[in-house]
Amino acid sequence: MRLETDFLVVGSGMAGLWFAYRVSRHGKVLVLTKKDDSESNTNYAQGGIAAALGSDDSPQQHLEDTVKAGYGLCDPDAVKVMVKEGPRLVRELEGLDIGFSTEGDHLQLGIEGGHTRRRVAHAADTTGQAVEWGLIKAVRSAPNVTLYEHHFVIDLLTDEGGCCCGVLSFDRESGKFTEIHAKVVMLATGGLCRVYEHTTNPPIATGDGVAMAWRAGAKVADLEFIQFHPTSLFGARIDGRAFLISEAVRGEGGILRTPDGERFMPRYHPDAELAPRSVVARAIYNELRTRRLDYVLLDLSSIPPAHILKRFPMIADTCKRFGLDITREPVPVVPAAHYSVGGVRTDLWGKTSIPCLYAAGECAHTGVHGANRLASNSLLEALVFADRAAQAATTQEASLPSSKKINPFERQLRSIEDSSLLNSLISSLRQTMWRFAGIVKSMSQMEQGRAKLAELSHELEALYPEGIFSPGIRELRNMLLVGDLILRSALSRKESRGLHYVEEYPDTLPEAVHTVLSPKD
Ligand code: FAD
Ligand code: SIN
Repeated sequence: MRLETDFLVVGSGMAGLWFAYRVSRHGKVLVLTKKDDSESNTNYAQGGIAAALGSDDSPQQHLEDTVKAGYGLCDPDAVKVMVKEGPRLVRELEGLDIGFSTEGDHLQLGIEGGHTRRRVAHAADTTGQAVEWGLIKAVRSAPNVTLYEHHFVIDLLTDEGGCCCGVLSFDRESGKFTEIHAKVVMLATGGLCRVYEHTTNPPIATGDGVAMAWRAGAKVADLEFIQFHPTSLFGARIDGRAFLISEAVRGEGGILRTPDGERFMPRYHPDAELAPRSVVARAIYNELRTRRLDYVLLDLSSIPPAHILKRFPMIADTCKRFGLDITREPVPVVPAAHYSVGGVRTDLWGKTSIPCLYAAGECAHTGVHGANRLASNSLLEALVFADRAAQAATTQEASLPSSKKINPFERQLRSIEDSSLLNSLISSLRQTMWRFAGIVKSMSQMEQGRAKLAELSHELEALYPEGIFSPGIRELRNMLLVGDLILRSALSRKESRGLHYVEEYPDTLPEAVHTVLSPKD
């Protein structure tokens, strides 16, 4: 089957939906998403979206905090753009009836690690869901937009000049493959932390966008910077997801303690529980390892119970389902893989190194986060750079490709049902990444990790040769590729910086450089 559109958007989280909403007055828009429309990392965001909105704040202050958290690696121009355009766009988002929490006639602003001001707009602790639903409503009622759920994008199509001109997708319901041609393609496929055994990310976060951009020839950057969130609920899984206990809980006064009651964070950083995430996650890792603990405790006893229930109703409710009353008991927590700082390299307008291919959100690398993302800056990055990509895409000269010029897919794909055989390979991959590419890394372990991923790739190819397709097989192939790119990037950085800590190279080098990999090298 073959379809045509002007703007093709892959992914229905913050970045994809905002882009679709913005370009909808300029042509036909098709949004493809591989699960239900709202299933995305965006949907689970808790803390909120950071922007200089308070009377005591300014974009300059937000810039300084972002750059400080980024350990010398933030791209200053990208940060400038984000903090400057952020407040206006968050106000516009608010205008879509998102239901942000308010105090009197202004937004209630939260605070999280590394922010020196209250600047996190939120909808209690279900900000992501509120944003996701608000945007879906806006996109569904916008002119010219069609949204197909359960459409799995397999790969990008390129023409003989190397420009992106569409995608090959698979409709899970009809079992049909479709070539979709477009003037512009926006990759907004989100994160990749499902490559790790313990992660806050939902099952969609398999790094498909990074993998397909790489196969099409795009550059990727800084994939070694994986952010581990310090506090996920110990021993609890929902859909394979570690349940997040928002950093905003520490912002409201939550204190980290060992099970015997010692407050340990002041030993690691003057900002204690509100130190940058990389510091807090490594401190917990260290306490767990040296004291042989299963978890540490997040003590909420300084926060009045009524405030806990008003500010964190979903967290309180979910913990209750796991038998824990957070208004009375401390919460057992452990770190979990949470966010990918790296991704498909883009410029300040969301353009990748492939003409007509844009990327925004977690699958993209704009350079704003440097070596450590400041909490609640990712929804903002997705919003700001999807917006700029929309401006660029609606003003660029582009035409639909002539079918003859599109590089044909070399193999015929044959679809099969996802099989349970895959599950053990997926588990091995995720355990390998957790063990060999975790919070603290070593060069020899990373080499072992790469070797193990190569073995798993061989096993996968033996079981399912290239032309055999199911979404699960494709996701595993993507995860193996992305896992290897993370390890390659990490091995090439001979220093520790921000989120990246290697035992053999504990110091930070004077010069900060990005790790850029290209399939053409
Ligand atoms: P996503 O929202 O993940 O959307 C990706 C979309 O792409 C999905 O619709 C997915 O189905 C689709 N997709 C992927 N692959 C394919 C494919 N092959 N074919 C078709 N469709 C595909 N950030 C903050 O700033 N503040 C927070 O409070 C916050 N809290 C968080 C809490 C949790 C539990 C998690 C997991 C993350 C949190 N983050 C937070 C990070 C933030 O949510 C994400 O970085 C951001 O939402 C990413 O948005 P996105 O649009 O790039 O991707
Ligand atoms: C959280 O609420 O702690 C998540 C915020 C983020 O990842 O930015």
